[in-house]
Amino acid sequence: MGGISEHTHNAEDPLAGLHIPRHVAVIMDGNGRWAEERGLPRLAGHVEGRKATRRVVEAALDFGLQALSVYAFSMENWRRPLDEVEGLMELMQTAMTEEMDDLRSNKVRVLVSGRRAELPKALNDVLEFAIQETAQNTRMTFNLLIDYGGRAEIVDAARRFAEEVQAGRAQPADLDEESFPGLLYAPDLPDPDLIIRPGGEKRISNFLLWEGAYAEYVFLDVLWPDFDREHLLEAIRDYSKRQRRFGALTEPE
Ligand code: FPP
Repeated sequence: MGGISEHTHNAEDPLAGLHIPRHVAVIMDGNGRWAEERGLPRLAGHVEGRKATRRVVEAALDFGLQALSVYAFSMENWRRPLDEVEGLMELMQTAMTEEMDDLRSNKVRVLVSGRRAELPKALNDVLEFAIQETAQNTRMTFNLLIDYGGRAEIVDAARRFAEEVQAGRAQPADLDEESFPGLLYAPDLPDPDLIIRPGGEKRISNFLLWEGAYAEYVFLDVLWPDFDREHLLEAIRDYSKRQRRFGALTEPE
């Protein structure tokens, strides 16, 4: 009545007054513990973690992020038991196959960062298809880090530059802090403003070492399978309160 909708109480914008990061990156941690706490195989935790990844992609779209990066499989993860590694490979393949329609209809561009040479061909084919099919999308970039290591990424970039020099296409002095990121896996993504690590550990674990140089870090105790949009919002609120000065005395414009 009187024009007041019964949804008025929902109309409050949870993002009001917040500083929204352009690029959020997440170290998805705690799947194994989530499963172990329930007496389930570790893979059950990864299956549940996949659902959390979907929730966070949806929230990132709603919040208007430009880019979301997720650490799905590190180079160190190859050392896990074979059945867990194989299970994760299948899970990533199934997830990307099943989510393609929704990624497409939501205008999400898929990128994959990592060495990838050791991945099963079936997974690489699905990833390649997703990259090609979504290359023109501009609403948000979903960057999957698979077979990824931060040091390896820097080494790969250095190797590529050395090859350019050897081929006579570049001079050593051409390399500087502005040009170097152009050699990394996702050269057109802005650096992450906010890096979130759930799962209770407070370390970087070889994640976006170059790109995260000026990121704000938020560590949360929640295990990844329990992570939802409220946790993303909590991290954005925390980020929003911090003053980013990039080493200077005042915040940049
Ligand atoms: C870390 O938890 C998580 C991983 C190594 C895998 C993350 C992968 C997914 C959530 C599936 C990805 C889905 C898509 C769409 C790519 P952990 O096993 O290290 O947990 P723990 O520290 O409790 O052992």
